[in-house]
Amino acid sequence: MSYKEPYTEELRVNFLKYMSKAFQLLPKMEKPRIFDLGCGSGLPTIELANLTNGDIIAIDIDQVLLDKLNEKIKIRNLSNRIKTKRMDFLKNDFPDNYFDLVWEAGVVQIIGFKESFNACRRILKARGYFVLGQAIKAMEKNHKLLAKCGFDLIKQFNWPEGCWWTDYYEPLERKIKDIREGKEDPNLLENIKAIEAEISWIKANPNEIDCAYYILQKK
Ligand SMILES: C[S@@+](CC[C@H](N)C(=O)[O-])C[C@H]1O[C@@H](n2cnc3c(N)ncnc32)[C@H](O)[C@@H]1O
Repeated sequence: MSYKEPYTEELRVNFLKYMSKAFQLLPKMEKPRIFDLGCGSGLPTIELANLTNGDIIAIDIDQVLLDKLNEKIKIRNLSNRIKTKRMDFLKNDFPDNYFDLVWEAGVVQIIGFKESFNACRRILKARGYFVLGQAIKAMEKNHKLLAKCGFDLIKQFNWPEGCWWTDYYEPLERKIKDIREGKEDPNLLENIKAIEAEISWIKANPNEIDCAYYILQKK
């Protein structure tokens, strides 16, 4: 689990509006079978359930995060539409040509671009869709791989410039200040230095993590 997890869940909600915009770039799908790759605590998973009438399989390697998602599913009565599983994606045993849509945000750069692209291609149906939420710089370096791994880039939605600061790091900085001033749970002091270092780095490199959603289609 990321050291920032207890600090950022409420802030990452701010990014769901971009996810929703990216989703609208997909053609309408009736009851799609969706795979949420590396779902974490499941903010995007629940949003996918809101955006579609499809069924979702959400996997992650981290059971603590899956437990948080399972709680969200229970509260919202979504257990008939979302199934979760602890799994290393590269060891997945889903059938070939199984999903209509694979969704990922911030995961394939951890697992490996080439390995993830190939594994996603295998489990997607012909002409199925693969949406990635990724840093633009990272995707520029891996652009040629998309075609080599059998995908066409059909659309791209860039997150608004500066949104990482306004939606996430600025409120995070305020929260950290409150923690330092004793206005928040003192247990949160644990990772505070690492977060302050990250905020300083972002101030010095404001465009380094500009992101986009990439809508790919299996050739
Ligand atoms: C940056 S988080 C993104 C979480 C979620 N997609 C979101 O947007 O909120 C990356 C996630 O990938 C998961 N992960 C890392 N390696 C994985 C693997 N080999 N198989 C499945 N999940 C993995 C991590 O546990 C983590 O929850």
